[in-house]
Amino acid sequence: MAYITTPVYYVNDDPHIGHIYTTVVADVLCRWYRLSGEPAFLLTGTDEHAAKVVEAAKNRGFLTSEWARSKSKSFKDAFHGFNILPSDFIRTSETRHVEQVAACMRLLLGSGDIYRGEYEGWYDTGQEEYVSEVKARQFGYASPINRKPLVRRKESCFFFRLSAYGGEIRELIETGQLRIYPGVRKEELLTRLEEGLRDVPCSRPRADDWGIVVPGSPDQTVYVWIDALVNYLSAINTRERRRWWPPTHQIVGKDILWFHAVIWPAMLLALRKTQPFSALELPQAVHAHSFWVRDGEKMSKSMGNFVSVDVLRGLGDAYGVDSVRFFLVAAGPHGASDADFSMRRFHEMHVSALANTVGNCCSRVTTMIERFCDNRRPEKRDGTGFPIARVTELIEETRNAVAKGDVAALVSGALAVFRVTDSYIHSAEPFRLAREPSQRGRVSGMLHDALEAIRLASLLLWPLMPERMQTLWSAIGVDYLTQTMGNGSSAPSDEHFAWGGSRFEGPVASLRTLFPKVDSADPSSAVVALETRRA
Ligand code: MSP
Repeated sequence: MAYITTPVYYVNDDPHIGHIYTTVVADVLCRWYRLSGEPAFLLTGTDEHAAKVVEAAKNRGFLTSEWARSKSKSFKDAFHGFNILPSDFIRTSETRHVEQVAACMRLLLGSGDIYRGEYEGWYDTGQEEYVSEVKARQFGYASPINRKPLVRRKESCFFFRLSAYGGEIRELIETGQLRIYPGVRKEELLTRLEEGLRDVPCSRPRADDWGIVVPGSPDQTVYVWIDALVNYLSAINTRERRRWWPPTHQIVGKDILWFHAVIWPAMLLALRKTQPFSALELPQAVHAHSFWVRDGEKMSKSMGNFVSVDVLRGLGDAYGVDSVRFFLVAAGPHGASDADFSMRRFHEMHVSALANTVGNCCSRVTTMIERFCDNRRPEKRDGTGFPIARVTELIEETRNAVAKGDVAALVSGALAVFRVTDSYIHSAEPFRLAREPSQRGRVSGMLHDALEAIRLASLLLWPLMPERMQTLWSAIGVDYLTQTMGNGSSAPSDEHFAWGGSRFEGPVASLRTLFPKVDSADPSSAVVALETRRA
């Protein structure tokens, strides 16, 4: 059973590749759990109480609430367009969330973990966060994120007693009770934790009607980050849903790891000291991916170089949504380094990994089954020389890696199985043997094994490319999983991951083009065209 979360996204602007990426990764992980027979709950949504949302609405002449509703819908629609199936989409302006934040504030005010004080420091208005003196100096008193000047701010506000939890958080991370991926980020966190923690502001003077008022203090609104983090609790804090707690995998970008790996667990530790939450468990793992960059440059509003949802949609129209999902996971900034987006890279990956490796292998094997077995499922036979042990090992290795949240392992694992199958066919030459009528039984055995390897590889790829893999399943007569998986349920068990562990049902149809062949003479001009259309 898994509870998987993405950040809630700011609604000051339209979604872009970064938001789609994080959410696709979470969706892939969630589908993987379901395919493995484990129920999973995927939460995503929008973060609406930031000052920059108020400003964006004002600049365009909208009521903040109207603006937030319409942008939140853009996120929801964009996710839908990339075949992301969240179990819930939460908006932080919803009553269920506002009430949950107020309840948490009340409890922490009561326990003394939130107290009134005065804060003075360097404030990053773009990020809505204070920057430490050390960091401010290091970056020349400009935002480490967008380079705009930091603002000196002094204000009366409430503080969260973060300093009391540094030791516990460090221990949780060190002992692996709270797992942080990738390892370099874990080390960075531990180093920063060694410096000790200061209490952090958790409210700001109320500037408008937007935001959640601190209970009992109408002059203060809850600081947007404290507000936002609570969403993970708000969404499942009902009688039917409470069983999903705690989060199994929290997928975030590296920019917001500190909030998720330090402040959020500290808030939960503080809440645990209050009666209603005395049995509260802590999240199990935070996965911090890196950033998509464009031609080596950070994507930013001022540079105007974001890869927009429209560009990704255009790619989806030409190459298929599954190809976009595949590319995001296969080429994305899953680990510690940033990933460069380029149309050329996208096109090349579609051609080499999907059309040439996956597509060709499927086409070759099913076409041979059509020709040499009259579309009937080939018979199993011993002594085919197929490297079954290697394939089983690859499946096992991949499953272990994904259990740690490494969704990119699905790509490498599946491609390795396709390559093993291809080279088997290349050297065993069933197409040549089939010319001898006496060898047809042997050929059938070979094709049986190749087909079984393809079936197993298709399981690894289904979370990334559900539509294409369902087409494949139906062509090879194993589409009994389609219905269960298609409606968000989990498979009855994980037996289908074993060699020979499938119920083959129908005949095998030849599958000549699983992935569209797209000619892209000048992929970069296609992007320009798409972007111009948008402007
Ligand atoms: N609202 C906060 C999160 C609160 S969670 C309790 C926020 N929102 S955001 O809209 O700025 O989205 C942040 C997330 O979007 C990042 O953490 C990351 O997941 C994703 N990305 C934004 N830009 C990105 C790239 N250029 N590349 C990859 N992902 C990035 O922060």
